Amino acid sequence: MVEVSTSDGTYDVVVRAGALAELPSLIVERLTCEKYAVISDDNVAPVHGRAVREACLEAGLDTSLFTFPAGESSKTRRSWSILTDELLEAGFGRDSCVIAVGGGVTTDLAGFVAATFLRGVPVVQVPTSYLAMIDASVGGKTGVDVEAGKNLVGAFHPPRLVLADPEVLTTLPFPERAQGLVEAFKHGAILDRAYFDRLRADVGDLMAADAAIAGPAVARSVELKAKVVSEDEFEGGYRQILNFGHTLGHAIEAASDYHLGHGSAVALGMLLETDLGERLGVTEAGTRERLQPALEELLGPLDQVSYDADAAVGYLRTDKKVRRGKPRVVLLRSLGEVDPGSGWSHEVSQSQLAETLAAGRGVAS
Ligand SMILES: NC(=O)c1ccc[n+]([C@@H]2O[C@H](COP(=O)([O-])OP(=O)(O)OC[C@H]3O[C@@H](n4cnc5c(N)ncnc54)[C@H](O)[C@@H]3O)[C@@H](O)[C@H]2O)c1
Ligand SMILES: [Zn+2]
Repeated sequence: MVEVSTSDGTYDVVVRAGALAELPSLIVERLTCEKYAVISDDNVAPVHGRAVREACLEAGLDTSLFTFPAGESSKTRRSWSILTDELLEAGFGRDSCVIAVGGGVTTDLAGFVAATFLRGVPVVQVPTSYLAMIDASVGGKTGVDVEAGKNLVGAFHPPRLVLADPEVLTTLPFPERAQGLVEAFKHGAILDRAYFDRLRADVGDLMAADAAIAGPAVARSVELKAKVVSEDEFEGGYRQILNFGHTLGHAIEAASDYHLGHGSAVALGMLLETDLGERLGVTEAGTRERLQPALEELLGPLDQVSYDADAAVGYLRTDKKVRRGKPRVVLLRSLGEVDPGSGWSHEVSQSQLAETLAAGRGVAS
């Protein structure tokens, strides 16, 4: 169990094989709501959402299931408005609680429903993908995508409880497993070299969703992310280190019109930002050489992934993470350690990033 502190108190993240069966009792220990709304997408609802609802009903909790179509294209204000209307029609009031059961789309969307419904009701996060367990369900960020960009409308709404049961990962499609695990490698790269090396050694078992291996990895990632967000809840400084690989990764992902998975784009972003760090003399020489084979064991050859460097540069000009018109990147000092820079990132010029992207395409096409 990992404890995460927020300005509003603390919440527990329970990571344990078989823990899903304990969900109702863990909820009852923390919350006394009149009605519970399980929110799942239509892939996860039949395999896990319904089971959660049944278990809650058996424990005497008045619980209903609400579903929406699976996929990032559902993380919208439209889905938010449909779900909030459905809750109102079903008689949910101020004393209700949302239980989000699903991947990161569900934890973000259902979390935003909870943040805004009648000015905010509690949310319990039950992440079912690696990405949601390792990243999306911890930290309190919720929200939806809008025309102008991803995640641009949302709220900080820390959960009351996060329950990650690695046994649910056996139903997660294989490509989703690999994409989500990239964020675990990122946690190792920025904070814990031994963890990075262990992930590399265990990649086969992690991809097989062996709960005995997946559980401790999820728990370590949660511990690392929790430590960061507890220190910097609202992303003033230190939390930026979680953006390692994401300045260039987001640009590459957007340039592919989101055909390239987030994990693959971030993996490329980590390699390119490490190239840049090495060139600037900030990152220890040879770090990319250590990163690349580990990421390739997970994703296959990254040299064969091509992207439109010009489109990526265009995206960087409009990135919401670009402060005062100057892009910033998180650079490693060495594998397992971030260089503090100024406020945990480095200001670089558009032209340095453009050169890095163009050179990377040379390597990566
Ligand atoms: N709030 C945050 O801090 C944060 C951090 C990182 C990512 N995110 C968000 O997370 C989202 C991506 O998350 P994701 O990759 O989990 O996407 P997702 O929720 O779309 O899940 C991926 C796919 O796997 C399916 N799935 C999930 N768990 C399953 C299971 N156990 N069995 C069978 N199918 C399952 C889903 O139905 C979906 O089709 C993005 O929208 C991203 O912005 C948020
Ligand atoms: Zn990411």
